[in-house]
Amino acid sequence: ETMPLNVVINGVKQSVRIEPRVTLLDLLRERLQLTGTKKGCDHGQCGACTVHIDGERVNACLTLALTTEGREVTTIEGLADGDNLHPMQEAFLEHDGFQCGYCTPGQIMSAICCIREGHAGTPDEVREYMSGNICRCGAYSNIVDAIMDVKQ
Ligand code: FES
Repeated sequence: ETMPLNVVINGVKQSVRIEPRVTLLDLLRERLQLTGTKKGCDHGQCGACTVHIDGERVNACLTLALTTEGREVTTIEGLADGDNLHPMQEAFLEHDGFQCGYCTPGQIMSAICCIREGHAGTPDEVREYMSGNICRCGAYSNIVDAIMDVKQ
């Protein structure tokens, strides 16, 4: 049986009917074709699925879509303003904060919250805050550089 869901995603109101067990990650990727948000582990272990709900970071794979009723979700697709990338996206480019790129959307969504929530005082603080976002290529030091650069 499906249930109604009304949620604003990247500034666009979405009204859908979904089964209660559907995760926010599957709603985004499979129903709304917002495939920028990645499915790495699907178990809260990798951070590839990180998005914002009302400005706070969450793992979309651990969030039931219905819990976003009436809230605002932001994904990597919602960051750029037309042709202008978000400053964090620019910084990842400038500092080579990725290699294969699979973890990058989640890294960037977490990185924005890292600064917003005041956890970017030192590189160690950044590393701690970002520890839930796994990068198999090992781009960690460049990611920290990008975040410290944006913070200034
Ligand atoms: Fe959600 Fe890995 S896909 S944490």
